[in-house]
Amino acid sequence: MKNILVIGSTGQIGSELTAALRENYGNAHVVAGYIPSAPPTGELRDAGPSAIADVTDAQQLSDIVKEHKIDAIYNLAALLSVVAEQKPKLAWKIGIDGLWNVLEVARENGCAVFTPSSIGSFGPSTPHELTPQDTVQRPLTIYGVSKVTTELLSDYYFHKYGVDTRAVRFPGLISYVTPPGGGTTDYAVDIYYAAVRGEKFVCPIAEGTRMDMMYMPDGLRAAMELMEADPARLKHRNAFNVTAMSFAPENICRAIQKRIPTFEMTYDVDPLKQAIASSWPDSLDDSAAREEWGWQPKFGLATMTRDMIEKLTAKLKPEG
Ligand code: SER
Repeated sequence: MKNILVIGSTGQIGSELTAALRENYGNAHVVAGYIPSAPPTGELRDAGPSAIADVTDAQQLSDIVKEHKIDAIYNLAALLSVVAEQKPKLAWKIGIDGLWNVLEVARENGCAVFTPSSIGSFGPSTPHELTPQDTVQRPLTIYGVSKVTTELLSDYYFHKYGVDTRAVRFPGLISYVTPPGGGTTDYAVDIYYAAVRGEKFVCPIAEGTRMDMMYMPDGLRAAMELMEADPARLKHRNAFNVTAMSFAPENICRAIQKRIPTFEMTYDVDPLKQAIASSWPDSLDDSAAREEWGWQPKFGLATMTRDMIEKLTAKLKPEG
């Protein structure tokens, strides 16, 4: 990869992935694509090139790809699961009509494409324990429906046109940098903010509900390592199960209490979030990713908790 376009560079994943890609490939070689309502600021804006890249505007994407001689696109434009349920048509427009535009421009210009899938691509009829790489995918959310479609369409473009499409199924991503918005796994980020602020946390997900999670540095590495993997080794493409840990609210609460003993959590279960969470896997089997491209997470619950609390404490410290 020489020149990369990140679509959605100011979002939850994009803001950190753009910086990581710039570190790996050089600032000048990574274009931060954004929509006018969410322009880049600070380091993201100043360190390298940026361009308005609305995934629903095929011509705009084509112009950027040609102008910057792009050969790889990280397509991160999407609505998360809860907000997508409130705006299903918009979720489809961004996720699928947008993906179509990305894949077409990639086909015409010889670009590789990474469009993440998610644990949300699974549903209630999927085996919940150690969910296999290849299994039933009948999600009931529009988020899940669009992620399964993303996987199928991306594979279609690989088999029919030879477009180098690759992806992972991200679990809940946890970071102290850019907060998520409107996801089912957001509680696992919000809980750290509450703990560091000295507040009690009211958990919207019921006790005992396990979901796969990952610390953002591992998530960024997963995306970049897969895109650099030897294609001859890839039996799968769209998309690989990857995970780093699986926990329920009471587990993350206890991990935080080991460092902040006064921290308290109560429950006020949100029916929509709970229905979504219950339909997702309890734990993923990511052995295909380990075998085909050497996937290996670095952070577990305890090491992530230590780092999150350290970084958030510094971030939220009052000025002066
Ligand atoms: N973090 C996402 C969500 O909760 C799942 O991929 O919507």
